[in-house]
Amino acid sequence: MTNREDRSQLLPGVARGAILVCAAVLLMLAAVGPANSETEDTAFLVAKGRVTYRVYCINCHGAKAKGDGTLAELLTVEPTDLTVLKQDNKGIFPADRVMKSVDGREQVRGHGMKEMPVWGDVFQKTGMEPPGQDESAVERAQLKIRELVLYLDSVQVE
Ligand code: HEC
Repeated sequence: MTNREDRSQLLPGVARGAILVCAAVLLMLAAVGPANSETEDTAFLVAKGRVTYRVYCINCHGAKAKGDGTLAELLTVEPTDLTVLKQDNKGIFPADRVMKSVDGREQVRGHGMKEMPVWGDVFQKTGMEPPGQDESAVERAQLKIRELVLYLDSVQVE
């Protein structure tokens, strides 16, 4: 008989049962945990995106993102109705295109004519950290835009 077997015989059946139950619970938590926190994370990012939208986008694109903000009538190019991006793209939300048109990598008609400001730079300059920490400014700008994209994804009409 090995030492290991000796020890397992010393463990009362109840204790072994309890250990098994704990292990099962841990496994279940491990299986459920990540999915839950991911949804929570997304909800949090969407909420933050909504705040950013209300600060930077609402004037042109409107409270419901329908393209009817208070500045819209002053523009020569109508702000896009941002709730139909998915519908207009065969049911797939064009996250990448939205990201690029917001950070300025993609030239859309309005942007070219400077109707819509380029946000990549703006978001980098609104930080609180000391000057010289450009890398985190870029990262923060990217996160802000990603949050905006998630928010816009959440307001798409089906
Ligand atoms: C000064 C007005 C103005 C502001 C502020 C503004 N936009 Fe725009 N936006 C426009 C106009 C005008 C267009 C239409 C461009 C066109 O049709 O060529 C547009 C187009 C877009 C598009 C469509 C791109 C595509 O691929 O069809 C997206 C996405 C967008 N804006 C997102 C945003 C977001 C997000 C913000 C806030 C960070 C924002 N806009 C702020 C005026 C604005």
